[in-house]
Amino acid sequence: MKILVTGGLGFIGSHVVVELQNEGFEVVIIDNLSNSTIDVLKGITDITNMEPIFEKIDLREKGSVKDFFKRHKDINGVVHFAASKAVGESVDKPLVYYENNLNSLIYLLQELQKKESSYFIFSSSCTVYGEADALPITESALVKKAKSPYGNTKQIGEEIIMDTCKVVSGMNAIALRYFNPIGAHNSIKIGELPIGTPQNLVPFITQTAIGKREQLLVFGNDYPTGDGTCIRDYIHVVDLAKAHVMALKRLIQGSNQDNFEVFNIGTGKGSSVLEVIRAFENVSKTKLNYKIVGRREGDVIAAYADTTKANTVLGWKSKLSLKDALSSAWKWELNNS
Ligand code: WQD
Repeated sequence: MKILVTGGLGFIGSHVVVELQNEGFEVVIIDNLSNSTIDVLKGITDITNMEPIFEKIDLREKGSVKDFFKRHKDINGVVHFAASKAVGESVDKPLVYYENNLNSLIYLLQELQKKESSYFIFSSSCTVYGEADALPITESALVKKAKSPYGNTKQIGEEIIMDTCKVVSGMNAIALRYFNPIGAHNSIKIGELPIGTPQNLVPFITQTAIGKREQLLVFGNDYPTGDGTCIRDYIHVVDLAKAHVMALKRLIQGSNQDNFEVFNIGTGKGSSVLEVIRAFENVSKTKLNYKIVGRREGDVIAAYADTTKANTVLGWKSKLSLKDALSSAWKWELNNS
């Protein structure tokens, strides 16, 4: 079966392409290379010995999306990653985020709705919960007003898909709400490639440890947590990738109970920033140069997943530990440098 992976040369997308190929799917990647490089295609091929079909397309161009589906009439399964994803940048450039993240989604769905049956996996985020009222966070937790246009595009995106699946017979979708994806494939041929200054904690840690960055700034240690730093659910990107294959198979097999389902994808374990730093120092046998500074605007105190639904309904469970993820992230950084 041929599956379209949009944003398939990105961090999470590339790892999902590998897992789809491992499961026997033929993969077509669309990517506009705005936040990825064509070298990732070689990394994927080196791992699986199967080169995915690649087309450089910008999903904001409605005509290009229509033409793609004319050329690939046999594609009715889509895993959709292509989107802008920097929380801070989205605050400064809301229209860029609304246009890219929502128009791309709408054009894809407009093509899929023409099919007799279609399967759509949406890359969503725990950001939709904001500061959850209870921890761990279940899928029935309140979706709160997004703190950034990026988070809002995920919330609106889910609603667009839900409303479309309600009226388009044969369209089935699953939104996976990721917690914090980190790490790299154990082959060290693909991993996270932040362009410019990393926004996220783990790539900033590895770049500091390797000497690319002077010092890690820890954004606040006056939160109401054990050690005062924020808590997150850091999930190995390979575990996360496997959840996408399970979700797609669930739709193809018709096992889904609703035509739109949501699953939290995390480890179920929270780790503070300082705990991640300690774990990294143990794994890398290096002392990390960091300094505690003021809080970062928009950070929630704590977010980690209740994974009961993913474990029992989707039949997926994370297997890799924080240590495994940090070790692979460090090996990836060493390999890159
Ligand atoms: C984690 C913790 C920071 C950098 C975001 C998006 C989410 C998803 C993942 C896209 C926080 C602290 C970080 C640094 C630090 N992205 N930190 N110094 O903000 O939980 O989630 O990225 O899908 O949607 O919201 O991840 O890695 O930026 O931050 O102290 O240099 O690390 O304050 O407590 P976040 P993060």
